[in-house]
Amino acid sequence: MDCTLHQSLGDVPAAHQPVMPSELLQILEVGPGKLVLDSTCGGGGHSIKFYEAMRGIGTLVCMDRDPEMLALAQRRFAERGVPEGFVRWVCGSFADLKLHLARLGIERFDAILADLGLSSDQLTAERGFSFVQDGPLDMRFSRAEAIPTLGERLERIGADDLEQALRAADERFARRIARAILRRRDQGPIRSTVELARVIRSAIPKSREWRRIDPATKSFMALRMLVNDEIRHIQKGLVEAIECLAIGGRIAVLSFHSGEDRVVKQTFRTFDIRFRVKGDPGEAAGRPALELLTRKPVRPGEAECRSNPRARSAKLRAAVRVG
Ligand SMILES: C[S@@+](CC[C@H](N)C(=O)[O-])C[C@H]1O[C@@H](n2cnc3c(N)ncnc32)[C@H](O)[C@@H]1O
Repeated sequence: MDCTLHQSLGDVPAAHQPVMPSELLQILEVGPGKLVLDSTCGGGGHSIKFYEAMRGIGTLVCMDRDPEMLALAQRRFAERGVPEGFVRWVCGSFADLKLHLARLGIERFDAILADLGLSSDQLTAERGFSFVQDGPLDMRFSRAEAIPTLGERLERIGADDLEQALRAADERFARRIARAILRRRDQGPIRSTVELARVIRSAIPKSREWRRIDPATKSFMALRMLVNDEIRHIQKGLVEAIECLAIGGRIAVLSFHSGEDRVVKQTFRTFDIRFRVKGDPGEAAGRPALELLTRKPVRPGEAECRSNPRARSAKLRAAVRVG
């Protein structure tokens, strides 16, 4: 059974439900007076929980790479009557966290959340993330960023690079799918998400799993990661986030497939106090030290997985800065 899938991109979008909200409030110790960063605010699901737990006292920084998601979160906050001064909004990638914080005049947080990947609120046809609702081959988290769309990437990409990109999401049939896409490209550009999904499905042997999950799901996730250079942003963003924690500050990361989780695990390990040797030059240079709060990733409970299928593949890792 495949438990690495973030969500079915074929789902008709319902409002995004935050994953493991109670566990996060507890592990991050979010409460009144804290300085909290939601580095992947999306439509604000977790941020609203943070606001409630903080009872409006403290500061919440809401960040997202996608300006459309921030606009949605702002509307939801306004509907709930959240005072304007309580939230600071940042549009940009967490990979450039320090740059954005310098503009806000903030250096250290008590709690930081990164809830990786895509929000169900982004599954609208025109964004090109969904293969049920036909849309353009876009997939950029931000349409304001000067990066190539999926269509532009597919026009130029070579077979090996495409195969490697598909493997990043654990797609077993990466080679066959890459070849099928390039064969189809030889006849002219692929124009839409539904057409691309058809090409992908045609390359995969039919199996019983098809009934449970659309076989184009992993490829779509892999292509989204390629377009947005996601793994590199996560690697850089996690280091910046750890460096922006106050001593005693906590960081929690929700990941949804093995590629993401590997980066989180390795990055936490790099800062793990247990591996710091005495006289480590990193210590003298003020390099942060973390104590892991989760030796193994925490998984959502049965009830949550039933009510929010997207939660099924979630893994939560958290740590506290101790030095
Ligand atoms: C899973 S959703 C977050 C959902 C949110 N926690 C909620 O409960 O509504 C992930 C969000 O991260 C954003 N994102 C992806 N990469 C990012 C990056 N490098 N920097 C900042 N935000 C990013 C996406 O645009 C998306 O809105």
